[in-house]
Amino acid sequence: MSESIAQYYHERTKYDPRTIASKNKALDPNKQPIPFKEYKIGQIFDLKPYLSAQKTTDSDFVYWRRLSRLLGYSYGLTAKVPTMGQPMCLRSAPSAGGLYPAEIYLISRGNGILPPGLYHYQAQSHSLLLFWESDMWSQLQSAGFWHSSLENTRIALATSAIFYRSQWRYEDRAYRRIFLDTGHLLGNIELAAAMNDYHAHVMGGFNDRAMNELLYLDSSQESVMTVIALADLLDIQQNLPPGITSLPSPSLTVYPEIPEGELLSALQKATEITENLPPIAATSPSETDKYNFPFCLKVSVSSPPIYWGEKLSGLETTFFKRRSCRAYSGDSLSLDQLKALLHFTYHPEDYLDQELDRSPDYFDLSLLETFIAVSGVDGLEEGCYYYAPRARELRQIRFKNFRAELHFLCLGQDLGRDAGAVVFHTADLKKAVARWGDRSYRYLHMDAGHLGQRLNLAAVYLNLGVSGIAGFFDDQVNEVLGIPADEAVIYITTLGRPRTG
Ligand SMILES: Cc1cc2nc3c(=O)[nH]c(=O)nc-3n(C[C@H](O)[C@H](O)[C@H](O)COP(=O)(O)O)c2cc1C
Repeated sequence: MSESIAQYYHERTKYDPRTIASKNKALDPNKQPIPFKEYKIGQIFDLKPYLSAQKTTDSDFVYWRRLSRLLGYSYGLTAKVPTMGQPMCLRSAPSAGGLYPAEIYLISRGNGILPPGLYHYQAQSHSLLLFWESDMWSQLQSAGFWHSSLENTRIALATSAIFYRSQWRYEDRAYRRIFLDTGHLLGNIELAAAMNDYHAHVMGGFNDRAMNELLYLDSSQESVMTVIALADLLDIQQNLPPGITSLPSPSLTVYPEIPEGELLSALQKATEITENLPPIAATSPSETDKYNFPFCLKVSVSSPPIYWGEKLSGLETTFFKRRSCRAYSGDSLSLDQLKALLHFTYHPEDYLDQELDRSPDYFDLSLLETFIAVSGVDGLEEGCYYYAPRARELRQIRFKNFRAELHFLCLGQDLGRDAGAVVFHTADLKKAVARWGDRSYRYLHMDAGHLGQRLNLAAVYLNLGVSGIAGFFDDQVNEVLGIPADEAVIYITTLGRPRTG
């Protein structure tokens, strides 16, 4: 086989109108996974008292408050919705199907407040559970191939995924959603870290087996997806330059035909890193946007930054009130709103004044492109546009009202039809694999989820509706909207006016 296993997996997990019916199997409610991990023993550190507490001068209190807010904003419980059985708990980060495959762990080097050891974040009680007290920092450094950011930092987070939670519903295609979910979580962590005087140094490359062993994970069930060294910006020693976020894995081109049901585990295995391969030559950021179309309509989308309120109070409340929109009214959003959303998502460098991270960690944003199908934006012609982030403009590739087609492309979901704008993140998989090996598949989905989370937060703050969509007819999206065929669709974010009543 000449295509790598990541490309093969992508091809095999595409939804297609001719075969979609066979994917719609009845879910077994008896096998529905519980989205919370339990530990039988450990020491509990309750984070609740600090979540909404006012700042004090007590340094220990301030430390706990920062940590409590960081975890609560990132992945805390924010709502309970009644269901037939147990009420369903929703969190500050969205998750495909509300299945929450991600877990968060914290590793402490020991700092006088958090004893050295391994902690699990228990979202249900908003607490940290110390389940293994031991100095394991050098093991963490070794599993992280001695990443520069772990030298001076004293705590790190690790996010994992429990595959079955998402697989229960989405089967092999769950791998895509697991990494999109993780990307949304990273979006929250990045912003919540900045609000609490941390920089999140994100690592997507490490020795997978060693990292899983460090956390006592059974790799066949659960695996570490990212490690995040948390640099305490109040400590001068920890104001570190950016570290390397991505490491390459091999790209596997010789493999047998993989049966359905085994694609997810095969790709997980193939994307593991066992040795620190020589870094890929750094690519200097491109000065120009990937696509330019002669004679097309070009619309400037320059915008002032979104003002998040005094001390980012608007962002804080948005973490707690963010929800995925369940139905749009079909009414239009304004061009200024679309501009503001794009600005916040793609131009963090303009948010330093508001003390947000001007250069949050992504794995490789140069591999992702953005297309937007516009069905209802006041002041903008309907059609499909390429978003050129450097030029800050939209470049029209098709002009047409695509509402009916979007309904079909999003597997018949009304969200696609009634949204005012539908954002598509795409990537050239061949190029991505050439750069980072099969591991690139993880990076692309996490980066798309991360961008998606910034879109989510900005949309909710602007009183718009927003929802991710990870189920779509892959190839038909390109054909119908005119997106170049080399661009594999990674993720969709719908934006619109929420239906009321
Ligand atoms: C990766 C991803 C894919 C999603 N796909 C869909 C989708 O196809 N259709 C949909 O209605 N909602 C989708 N959602 C929204 C989830 O259903 C929603 O996040 C979940 O029910 C939790 O609710 P909340 O976002 O309001 O907290 C998706 C969310 C994520 C993060």
